[in-house]
Amino acid sequence: MSTPRETLHFDSRHVGRRVLLFDELSSTNDTAAGEEPGTVVVADFQSAGRGQYGRVWQAKPGTSLLLSVVVAPPPELRRPVILTAWAAVAVADAVHRLTGQQAKIKWPNDLLVRGKKVCGILIEQRAATVVGIGLNLNQTADEFTAAGLPDASSLAVIAGQPIDPRAALAAVVRHLDDEYDRLISGERVPLEADWKWRIGLLGRQVVAERADGSSVTGRLRDLTFDGIELEADGGIRVLKPEEVRHLSAA
Ligand code: BTN
Repeated sequence: MSTPRETLHFDSRHVGRRVLLFDELSSTNDTAAGEEPGTVVVADFQSAGRGQYGRVWQAKPGTSLLLSVVVAPPPELRRPVILTAWAAVAVADAVHRLTGQQAKIKWPNDLLVRGKKVCGILIEQRAATVVGIGLNLNQTADEFTAAGLPDASSLAVIAGQPIDPRAALAAVVRHLDDEYDRLISGERVPLEADWKWRIGLLGRQVVAERADGSSVTGRLRDLTFDGIELEADGGIRVLKPEEVRHLSAA
């Protein structure tokens, strides 16, 4: 078992009261799963980082903020769409603080700035609820091109200057804590509104693709944690957010 090289304590209500910093882990999500709620696990490098849909998530040592948060939300908040919105909006707020730029959400859990992916989120719920975040900090555009990732970017590219990893960690933890506090106090409307704005497809013709490969095309009338409301086939169709794997402009 690895030992953290450092332990930090943020002045938080929920997220980051204890922050464990490791040089290397297989995946921060695995280590976080064995920790107390409120703990944040950070690694400079992951030897077996995971992405969505069983993909690998690779980042050179020290280039990214690789962190996982363990939380114990009440049952009504244990839904992937709500947890993803929480993490995506909080990280988007941190991106704004660090670069001055607004991030958009690409359904379901990528953050894009100027159309390029800067962050991926992986929620894993077994015994514990773990939210894993990979935020690109200091890679160059050439590094992404060389890695065959032309659609990725980093906060340093966006800001035009290096990003201090400690400042990035502090901003992400602070915004996760603030948003979580609002969420568990029952204030879900501001989070839902921010999430909807960052997805940005309202009123547009969209394609909603389900996990089984079927899809619905129509005009997006509304988007809430309870349903994706589409004007399609001469009527109104409401899809559960959790059944939709991709939602994009048609
Ligand atoms: C994706 O876009 O596919 C999601 C990527 C999530 C990557 C992060 S890095 C920290 C945490 N630990 C992991 O193994 N994965 C997540």
